[in-house]
Amino acid sequence: MRIRNHTNPFNYSTRLSPLDLTDIFGNLPQRLCLEIGFGRGVFLRRFPEIFPNEHLLAVELRPKMVSDFIDRHVIPDGVHVMQGNGEIICEDGIADGALDRLFVFHPDPWLKGRHQKRRVINPGFVDILTRKLSSSGQLYLSTDVASLWEDMSDILTSRGFVCDADPLFWKEKYESFWNAFSERDQRSLFSGTWSLT
Ligand SMILES: C[S@@+](CC[C@H](N)C(=O)[O-])C[C@H]1O[C@@H](n2cnc3c(N)ncnc32)[C@H](O)[C@@H]1O
Repeated sequence: MRIRNHTNPFNYSTRLSPLDLTDIFGNLPQRLCLEIGFGRGVFLRRFPEIFPNEHLLAVELRPKMVSDFIDRHVIPDGVHVMQGNGEIICEDGIADGALDRLFVFHPDPWLKGRHQKRRVINPGFVDILTRKLSSSGQLYLSTDVASLWEDMSDILTSRGFVCDADPLFWKEKYESFWNAFSERDQRSLFSGTWSLT
């Protein structure tokens, strides 16, 4: 396992070369998945059991979270962990039409108006995502912040995405550190699997 550092993750002017997926995974993934903001890595550890034979690039912005994760856990086969900005890795690293699933669980809400441009699900990134997703590509999105869900839903629907409740995934398979924390506090979960019509 290697950690691929995307140096200076906050600098949007630092660009990347396209990722060599054969080099990363040892073969060309039949289905390529991306998780942006894996945090404690709860979902990525279960990924092979949930989506067998698929490949996951799991990206986390904060270097300390990535190094703590690597110190404590064995990274499962078929999963590759990267430190960096998931938006840039998706835009520069992944070929158009090559992304089958994007997971964004409990993204930072950035509630203050002037900070909202830092949200992962922002208009510019959703435009990029429409190019990156394969024809059957899906975005799995969750939050416990009602106003954030509304804003993200507005952006996605304005760009032609539709939301499926997808209970098989959200009730039986979904697991994240933040969600467990949120359930303990009895906060509502807003979740759905989005795809382009
Ligand atoms: C609230 S935490 C949720 C973590 C995890 N998804 C969960 O549900 O437990 C949001 C995470 O997204 C990461 N993050 C925020 N913006 C990011 C970006 N552009 N690229 C990669 N990670 C990002 C943060 O560092 C943080 O670890």
